[in-house]
Amino acid sequence: MTLRKNIAEMAGYVPGFQPADETAWIKLNTNENPYPPSPKVAEAIMAEMGNAGENLRKYPDAASRQARAAAADLYGFDPAWLIMANGSDELLNNLIRAFAAEGEEVGYVHPSYSYYATLAEIQGARVHTFGLTEDFRIADFPERYNGKIFFLTSPNAPLGCAFDNSYIEELAQRCAGMLVVDEAYVDFSDQTALELVKNYPNVVVTRTFSKSYALAGMRLGLAVAQPEVIAALDKIRDHYHLDRLALVAATAALQDQEYLTATLAKVRQTRDYFSAELRKLGYKVIPSHANFVFASPPDGNGERVYAALYKRKILLRYFSDPLLKHGLRISIGTAEEMETTLATMAEIG
Ligand SMILES: Cc1ncc(COP(=O)(O)O)c(C=O)c1O
Repeated sequence: MTLRKNIAEMAGYVPGFQPADETAWIKLNTNENPYPPSPKVAEAIMAEMGNAGENLRKYPDAASRQARAAAADLYGFDPAWLIMANGSDELLNNLIRAFAAEGEEVGYVHPSYSYYATLAEIQGARVHTFGLTEDFRIADFPERYNGKIFFLTSPNAPLGCAFDNSYIEELAQRCAGMLVVDEAYVDFSDQTALELVKNYPNVVVTRTFSKSYALAGMRLGLAVAQPEVIAALDKIRDHYHLDRLALVAATAALQDQEYLTATLAKVRQTRDYFSAELRKLGYKVIPSHANFVFASPPDGNGERVYAALYKRKILLRYFSDPLLKHGLRISIGTAEEMETTLATMAEIG
């Protein structure tokens, strides 16, 4: 077997743990939405199936026209500025394939989404990580960054902090290559970099349906960028990358903004309540603009709290990384789930 050297040597990405007995857990480890998707999604899927699934024998629309039009309408762009995807992970992958050749540099912030590094490794691209300063700016970002792509997770995961648009615009000016603003969690915050796309040909904004739209199980994402970038991404994707059910799910979800707004309000309210209560327990909590919080217990031992809650069937995300091991990333569940989590944290101290 003669694997490429970088594939033979790479470890591969390890996604958040999905327990087999899912319903036995309070599952706060992968930032899923605790509420179901819009009821219009299930209706659209049932209708699309046709009688006993008869419609599934036909290929889907390779150009995702309806979903794309729905997204373009919602965000105020021409459809040529937008591409749908099989999860935003597909876009991150294709962005690297399109812009960073073997040996070329890809940059991102550490801590953020480590899948960027895995994708770069597969491509054989080099990785350059930048730290964050105390006030959540990128440490030592050069006046002119010459990497082929820089990934900015905004709001940041796993910390939850956001970057304001004037700062993102400054980064766009300083990047010689592409600036990918990964807005996986942006619906839980108050701002978006979408407008920057209009003036900056090197800015791409990626979104996911996995968090705010509660559709992690459908695998849906989208990107907004200038038409030349979208055309490049369109060229290299799998031609039938979205199945018929995912396509109608995306359209229905995008068209039910009333439902989205109500869900977001519940999650945000629970997040703010949970953060305040955790602080009362002596935890340090980074103000969050996402559907999770990063919190550190008074003894700075994230693993201890993770293990104690795990025993009680509450699943949080612990990272052994030296920059993160003092705390935990806790997804925001229902108000009831968060009360149980708080009570358990109070009990274990
Ligand atoms: C920052 C960030 N980007 C992208 C993704 C991938 O999202 P998707 O489910 O759309 O592939 C995630 C998922 O957790 C994420 O946290």
